[in-house]
Amino acid sequence: SVNVNDPTLIALVNKLQDVFTTVGVQNPIDLPQIVVVGSQSSGKSSVLENIVGRDFLPRGSGIVTRRPLVLQLINRPAPAKVQTNGVSEKEMKETTDSQANVDEWGEFLHLPGQKFHDFNKIRDEIVKETEAKAGRNVGISPAPINLRIYSPNVLTLTLVDLPGLTKVPVGDQPRDIERQIREMVIKYISKSNAIILAVTAANQDLANSDGLKLAREVDPEGQRTIGVLTKIDLMDAGTDVVDILAGRIIPLRLGYVPVVNRGQRDIENKKRIDLALKAEKEFFENHPSYRNKASYCGTPYLARKLNLILMMHIKQTLPDIKTRIATSLQKYSQELEQLGAGDLLGHNSSNIILNIITEFANEYRTVLDGNSSELSSN
Ligand code: GDP
Ligand code: NA
Ligand code: MG
Repeated sequence: SVNVNDPTLIALVNKLQDVFTTVGVQNPIDLPQIVVVGSQSSGKSSVLENIVGRDFLPRGSGIVTRRPLVLQLINRPAPAKVQTNGVSEKEMKETTDSQANVDEWGEFLHLPGQKFHDFNKIRDEIVKETEAKAGRNVGISPAPINLRIYSPNVLTLTLVDLPGLTKVPVGDQPRDIERQIREMVIKYISKSNAIILAVTAANQDLANSDGLKLAREVDPEGQRTIGVLTKIDLMDAGTDVVDILAGRIIPLRLGYVPVVNRGQRDIENKKRIDLALKAEKEFFENHPSYRNKASYCGTPYLARKLNLILMMHIKQTLPDIKTRIATSLQKYSQELEQLGAGDLLGHNSSNIILNIITEFANEYRTVLDGNSSELSSN
């Protein structure tokens, strides 16, 4: 089995990006991204935040997410531990804590070189940038905010948080707000390499799920859609999502994952994310409907499932990625040759790149082939 914190095949994405940068190709290939879609306040931002395991996204009732947020998580191992001989336990703890802050930070594309070690400041900056482009009220903007988070504790993934689907314009929102948000969402989820997290609140009728409906439009076979059921804790007593999980309501090939995020009061009380994840675990382990399948419930299972799906996805697109890289390289070499600068991108570069990919594919073949069964085993 795969350790979800091991970036294995997902590191391919980073390697490819490094390769592009090296040859000066501006990201010609769409790499897999995980995109959340669902109604306003269904819990999309909360789900993403729990996957990341850090508090940094604006969340709350009403339209809080008003611009796409393209979030690149980059697994960056912490430097080796310093010698601790003769250092008291307390001092060691302090060292570890400050080390954690040094090893994890965020960086915005619009603020190059500025490292945010305080994740509350990241949230403030997202709010500020949202207001800069989408106004202070309830307006939206399709211009994405690009944020990278470097940490030893994240999976190497790109996630996209989006405004929620809504029907009725409020405040000074344009009358066609529904269409505008739909188009924004479609743009991200229609890419064949997007993995869709269709988020639906469990205290709402699944048949009316805007997220699932939209996901179906772009992914009718359900090859890249995971259902996420939030607010399980808010369901009426005596009701549960067991039938949905078993695929008896609206079957999804990749299945559903039930989660419990922090509620509005938890946000107001600034409930810590680690305590929230602990409470989520306890919720499923102690609930009569879920306790015998608790390992298939909650955020850790969602993260694991995502990781496997991403690996499968990369595996499937690998031949295509190779072809496309080869094609772009050929095109660039020809252009350079015509400019009389053929040597800048020597003949070798394309071979080096294809070798890296082939090597990578071989390296992870075992991992990939060993995991195909796991996804359907739920
Ligand atoms: P978004 O608009 O889809 O991004 O949703 P948010 O993540 O901003 O959450 C909207 C509101 O629902 C917030 O008040 C959250 O605290 C609350 N919420 C989200 N998920 C859950 C959940 O699983 N349980 C409970 N009790 N509240 C939740
Ligand atoms: Na919201
Ligand atoms: Mg949101």
